[in-house]
Amino acid sequence: MSGHLTFTVDLDDPALVAAYDDLPLWSAMAGLLLLEHVPLAPAIVVLDVGCGTGFPAIELAERLGPSSRVHGLDPWAAALDRARAKAAARGVAHVVLDRGDAARMPYADRHFDLIVSNLGLNNLPDPEAAAAECRRVLKPGGRLALSTNLVGHMAELYEVLERVLAETGAEREAGALRRHVDGRASVAGVRALLERHGFRVGRVEETTRLLRYADGTALLNHWFVKLGFLDGWRATVDPARAAEVFGRLEAALPRPLTLTVPFAYIEAQ
Ligand SMILES: C[S@@+](CC[C@H](N)C(=O)[O-])C[C@H]1O[C@@H](n2cnc3c(N)ncnc32)[C@H](O)[C@@H]1O
Repeated sequence: MSGHLTFTVDLDDPALVAAYDDLPLWSAMAGLLLLEHVPLAPAIVVLDVGCGTGFPAIELAERLGPSSRVHGLDPWAAALDRARAKAAARGVAHVVLDRGDAARMPYADRHFDLIVSNLGLNNLPDPEAAAAECRRVLKPGGRLALSTNLVGHMAELYEVLERVLAETGAEREAGALRRHVDGRASVAGVRALLERHGFRVGRVEETTRLLRYADGTALLNHWFVKLGFLDGWRATVDPARAAEVFGRLEAALPRPLTLTVPFAYIEAQ
């Protein structure tokens, strides 16, 4: 392969600029952990479950090289269009983006050498069905490697929110916030999920990343917080009291605000 010897770049090409603007930092925090540990070898067939806009499918395809073939699976059609455009702009021909549901995968039995999932598998609507499908489509001896944020994430925020809810008596139903907080993944929970479907967890790598904001106003107005988290937080609060609760929360959060987010890389066979 000597395409790199004749490669030229057009920095004014909008497709290249879009590909350069690659990934939400939230996905990157877990994704870097996955890329540090995921087993790599040429000429393997890989599946990325819940690939969204193409991560890690496209990056992994490049790290494995053109002898590999990587499928990304996701039901989100607009995200897959974006992933296809990025793969084309990066010149990656050995990645295939498939629209579909992890609970009913459009693949033959024992098709993949490696299955990966960044912030996907254990957060899907039906993780049991997804894990069973992973087991079905993975070759004997193949690996499943996933990365996820863990219970304990953003504890600094939830402590303040819990206090504000207690002060205002505004929680929608007793324990709603606690259930929201405790509902995050744990290594033990993911291990149990995978073992229920015939996997054996062989390797776990944990790390902690820090998300920092100047204050609560910055946090609550950050686009990714609004996109990924705000609905879940609002659902724990009586809507009639939401303005009061979130106003108090915004004022009570420390300046600067540092949120701890634990992540795990979990590899199974
Ligand atoms: C938190 S996002 C992670 C996306 C990507 N892996 C990343 O790191 O940016 C979870 C992804 O799972 C996808 N998803 C939701 N339901 C799914 C299903 N039933 N089967 C496969 N993927 C699903 C979503 O569309 C979304 O792209």
